[in-house]
Amino acid sequence: MKSNRRNFIKLAGLAGAGFAGSSIESFARYSSMIKNPDLPGQIREYSQSHRQRFNMSRFAAPKIENVRVGIIGLGQRGPAWARLMRQIKNVRIQALCDIVPEKAQKLKEQLEVHGHNPDLYFGNSEAWKKMCERNDLDLIILTTPWYMHASQGIFAMEHDKHVASEVPAAATLDECWQLVETSERTRKHFMMMDNSSYRSFQLLTLNMARKGFFGRVVHGDCAYNTSKMRNNFSRNMYWDMWWLRQYADRRGNIYPTHGLGSVCQIMDINSGDRLDYLVSMESDDFMMQEKAQELAREDPFFNSFAGKKYRGNMNVTTIRTKKGKTIMLQHDATSPSPHNVIHGIYGTKGAALYDPQPPRISTGNHKWASQEEFNSLEEKYTPGIIKRMGELAKDSGHGGSDLLIAWRLVDCLQNGLPPDKDVYDAASLSSIVPLSEWSVLNRSNSIDIPDFTAGAWETNKQNMDINLEKGGSAGLIL
Ligand SMILES: NC(=O)c1ccc[n+]([C@@H]2O[C@H](COP(=O)([O-])OP(=O)(O)OC[C@H]3O[C@@H](n4cnc5c(N)ncnc54)[C@H](O)[C@@H]3O)[C@@H](O)[C@H]2O)c1
Repeated sequence: MKSNRRNFIKLAGLAGAGFAGSSIESFARYSSMIKNPDLPGQIREYSQSHRQRFNMSRFAAPKIENVRVGIIGLGQRGPAWARLMRQIKNVRIQALCDIVPEKAQKLKEQLEVHGHNPDLYFGNSEAWKKMCERNDLDLIILTTPWYMHASQGIFAMEHDKHVASEVPAAATLDECWQLVETSERTRKHFMMMDNSSYRSFQLLTLNMARKGFFGRVVHGDCAYNTSKMRNNFSRNMYWDMWWLRQYADRRGNIYPTHGLGSVCQIMDINSGDRLDYLVSMESDDFMMQEKAQELAREDPFFNSFAGKKYRGNMNVTTIRTKKGKTIMLQHDATSPSPHNVIHGIYGTKGAALYDPQPPRISTGNHKWASQEEFNSLEEKYTPGIIKRMGELAKDSGHGGSDLLIAWRLVDCLQNGLPPDKDVYDAASLSSIVPLSEWSVLNRSNSIDIPDFTAGAWETNKQNMDINLEKGGSAGLIL
């Protein structure tokens, strides 16, 4: 039994190392491992042997008055995170890393105008390690392609840094386990920056759920549905066409965390309930290969993409929780539908729906609340974090959620408070990536979702202090 687990870790470790280089060969090797038909056996084995080393839920690390930051990956999200961090008082952007030197240099010049003078790391795929080895950084922000987050985050925690990772946090189940084991052993925070759960309607409904407005929450609908065809096929949007390669080489829901994060928060996942098992079903691809072939007729650059088989256009994953609730999660990155995260919450006494807009709330009688009723519910249930920060954050990215999540992360670090989301949240949400893939590849059979808390979910207290009972003191540079 033990040797199976060891072999699995060994294989996954190899995958992580090879995959960061992004060669076609390592993709193929990686893909064949993820399709491993004995994933359910390995989950059972792991669950039987896993013991929690230390409970990171509600763990408060010592306060850090001046937060010294390093950022890895400076494409679209890295510079966005640099902009957010430079707007918060007592934050110093001390180091930047990208494989492409020009990206690091350009961001440094932009930051210098604002009084930051970061050291640069670039030029090869492992330059980030040198940056993580420095002893004058408190927080590493990961804005590289998501299949690199776990190996970079684990290395950073091993080098005494807290980590804030873009979404998702891991590409394999083994990486999810390793994130948990490393965070518990090093007592370093690993927070996945699931900004979608900081949108004001999502926070409003979380507060309403906690105050009992929905009665007992029974079901949640969520999604990341948006057409990324133009972006994914653009030659100069993403580094090394990494998103297109992911859609070609993987199956299942490869972007589950937007949407699922806020529903899990409302359902007290990892603090009173937990994700139990899932079933995932996927359509065929009716668009991507055709698009690749069309582009290849004009541009030989796309020849290597024209022969690939792509992930299906629509993935639907259903999840059941230990306490009997259900979740429907979709991912569609191709069909020409407007952006939609759904965020449908259904309880015994009330319901809410965010997308398609406008956001709505119901208490029954076959109708949604009138605008007047909605406004008075909003006034009654708006949580403290929105009252304090909503107006200031509203012009930042993703409906204001970007500055809210960045500010709250720094606020928790500066005040020595537990972060709003912990490594168990990062692992359980990210585990949907490999688990949905396994289910799709195995005729939609069900598969267990590991308990990354090793039983502590039953007694863990809720995280995400949306009423700012503690902290709330981080300042902004306006
Ligand atoms: N939370 C959100 O709303 C949101 C929105 C967009 C993207 N994302 C996530 O953010 C992450 C980054 O996405 P993006 O759109 O910025 O991608 P991108 O391709 O624009 O940027 C990735 C950057 O990483 C760099 N990089 C690649 N390998 C590296 C290495 N070994 N060392 C250092 N740098 C390396 C690339 O040069 C590139 O600049 C992804 O995980 C994505 O899922 C989140």
